[in-house]
Amino acid sequence: MSIPNHILEQLNSQADLISIIGRHTTLKRAGSEFKGCCPFHGEKSPSFYVNPQKNIYHCFGCSVGGNAISFLRDYENLTFIEAVNELSKQTGIEVPKEEQQNVSYQRTKKQAAIKPASRAPAAETAKFQPAVDNQLPASIATDSQQKNYTDQPTYYDHNNHDSSYDHNYENSYDSYPPLDAYDSAPYPMDSYPADYQDATNNGAPPAWLTDTNAGAGSHSDNSVSDKDGNLYDLLEQIQQFYQHNLTIHPHAKHYFLSRGITEDIFETFGLGYAPFGWQHLEHQFPQDIEGLKALGLVRQSESGRDYDLLRDRVIFPIRDNQGRTIGFGGRALDDDVKPKYINSSDSPVFHKQHVLYGYYESRQQRADSWLVVEGYMDVIALYQSGIYGAIASMGTAINESQISRLLTLNPTLTLSFDGDSAGQKAAWRTLEVALPVLADDKELRFLTLPNNHDPDTFIKSQGGDAMREQIKNAMPLSQYIFAYLSERYDLTLVEGKAKLMSQVRSLTMALPKGSSFRYLLNNDIYQKLGGKRSQNKEARDALLDFDGDMTISQQLQLCFLFQPRALLEDPIESIWQQAGINRINLPAHIKEKASPDILRALAWEDLQDDALLDIVSTIKRCLNYLPQDANAAAHFILSNVKPITQEMLSRNWGGFYKTLTTRNILSLDELIENLVSQLLERNMKKKIQELIKNPDHIKLAIVRKQTQLLNDWLRAQQAEQSAQMVTVQS
Ligand code: UTP
Ligand code: MN
Repeated sequence: MSIPNHILEQLNSQADLISIIGRHTTLKRAGSEFKGCCPFHGEKSPSFYVNPQKNIYHCFGCSVGGNAISFLRDYENLTFIEAVNELSKQTGIEVPKEEQQNVSYQRTKKQAAIKPASRAPAAETAKFQPAVDNQLPASIATDSQQKNYTDQPTYYDHNNHDSSYDHNYENSYDSYPPLDAYDSAPYPMDSYPADYQDATNNGAPPAWLTDTNAGAGSHSDNSVSDKDGNLYDLLEQIQQFYQHNLTIHPHAKHYFLSRGITEDIFETFGLGYAPFGWQHLEHQFPQDIEGLKALGLVRQSESGRDYDLLRDRVIFPIRDNQGRTIGFGGRALDDDVKPKYINSSDSPVFHKQHVLYGYYESRQQRADSWLVVEGYMDVIALYQSGIYGAIASMGTAINESQISRLLTLNPTLTLSFDGDSAGQKAAWRTLEVALPVLADDKELRFLTLPNNHDPDTFIKSQGGDAMREQIKNAMPLSQYIFAYLSERYDLTLVEGKAKLMSQVRSLTMALPKGSSFRYLLNNDIYQKLGGKRSQNKEARDALLDFDGDMTISQQLQLCFLFQPRALLEDPIESIWQQAGINRINLPAHIKEKASPDILRALAWEDLQDDALLDIVSTIKRCLNYLPQDANAAAHFILSNVKPITQEMLSRNWGGFYKTLTTRNILSLDELIENLVSQLLERNMKKKIQELIKNPDHIKLAIVRKQTQLLNDWLRAQQAEQSAQMVTVQS
């Protein structure tokens, strides 16, 4: 999509930015600028400025800033093209036609033969529509016809999809070979109830019934030609049509009422009903077939016949952030009908990844804290009990950009998920998706309602206040992670703890760079697991207390002496693996010429440190014969190393052992890993310098790459560790 820059500039400069922003926050003049409370971050004293000359805004509190397009995009959540079209409308600046085309479609010429179907089916379609006259009354029709639907093969098995939450429900619906039942529909194709006409004749009939331009609606009077339909207008007409149908189909209205929805909410959310009949939209909007198809509301069967996507379903209009209808969700009236919900498909105006159901309605209520829920009914139930700010994504899990937007509106976001395993998996997935945008000042909270309730059923059984309480007490992210993982690992075992910790580590790697939450979260969970992290820090402090002048190698030797089993799995190899150096990815020309020797993991020999090598090889040799008691084992090792090594270590051993045991420090794993990586890093740096002096480009390239991997890994590790951790003198 390319809109010429000069047009974008015009749009931005001509836009009435003060009134666009003024819709969301009160702006007061301050000199040549306007000033108000920032709509992006909740604040009490104004630090948000709009400059009408330059037509830009800036907040000194949260440093958002931009122009009219960016405001519509970031605050009203419009897509770029929607923002452009909106400004084009407001300013009258024309955007090249092909950029707008996507919301228009070709209208069919008016044809005398086609009349609104409810009254006189067109001759051509009459054979699919036996008697309109002798229809069953609505209530009877419902029962018998419902059967026909449920008797159809189940083309969507919701249960099978529970494990993968991120499915697209509509696709599975589409993939069903359409309409076996179509040709032999055992009930009237058009099943508007008998009172249909009466009802519409009561009072002023809606435009779409009286207008011979049926479906052209509001746009028939403006510039749009008879041939050009506008999808937004069509959607508006369809929404009204569905909403009207709710008033004349008692069983549909009863469905909503039976779920506790009050009539004023019908209005607020524009709830409706899509009647029986395979072609009701086509009959209602005979000139707009192209539009109906572009919206995915009318589909074509294999035999080439058009049919309605949504039949005998209560309807939830889906709106964009300006309140325009852009799609529909339809729920079966019977829980046994599969699929339970069908959403209209993505279209030029409906992009599911951008849409949050309930956002517009929440905004109308000036909601300022947000709660992500799973379903339409949850959004509505919360709204009805006065809890504004509930939104749901469209059949797929909420995505990173939606989360990030919501977090700009309010730094705390609560996510509510069903307590069943599908819900909890969805919650975990959402957590993973959210981590990269979770800067230090943002917070995620998780709400799992008791007894497998969803917000809708919870409110119904416990009331709105209980729900408010639940939201208030939603679990902070760190607690949730621990709660979730601790159910999955056996924490009575060291192995379980280690696995949990490693998962936490990889999770927190996804947090933004420089996040201190990374360290805090790791540390928090370490402590929950028994304070291993703090032990590590203490171990290090102990080493320093004990003798601040030791080299890294000497510290490491003492550590090995204290915990010889650390060498059961070679620490160098383990670091090599964790840092991914063994899986190094080299350009083909380098790989070809690389000798295996340069690619292997470093060995203790390579470190050229006799004393360290002496200790390591001695321990490895006698690992299987070592006494249980740590002190005895150390003496056993010492008696087997070279005299010169023995001398230094013996001098320090007693003090070291005592310090650690009095502090009740049992494990030095982390410290050892840390010391070993420092040695590796140093060794590799030295190697690079040698290779620069005596150039070997292939080797140099490889060692550089290895060093980089090691550095990346070390940096990530350090981010987890305490900022106050003292750098050991080497
Ligand atoms: P749920 O199956 O959890 O239903 O689907 P719910 O929201 O509790 O619905 P009610 O209360 O029985 O009416 C949650 C959301 O997943 C999507 C819908 O958006 C629904 O609101 N969904 C579910 C579908 O799109 N298709 C389906 O078949 C089922
Ligand atoms: Mn529900």
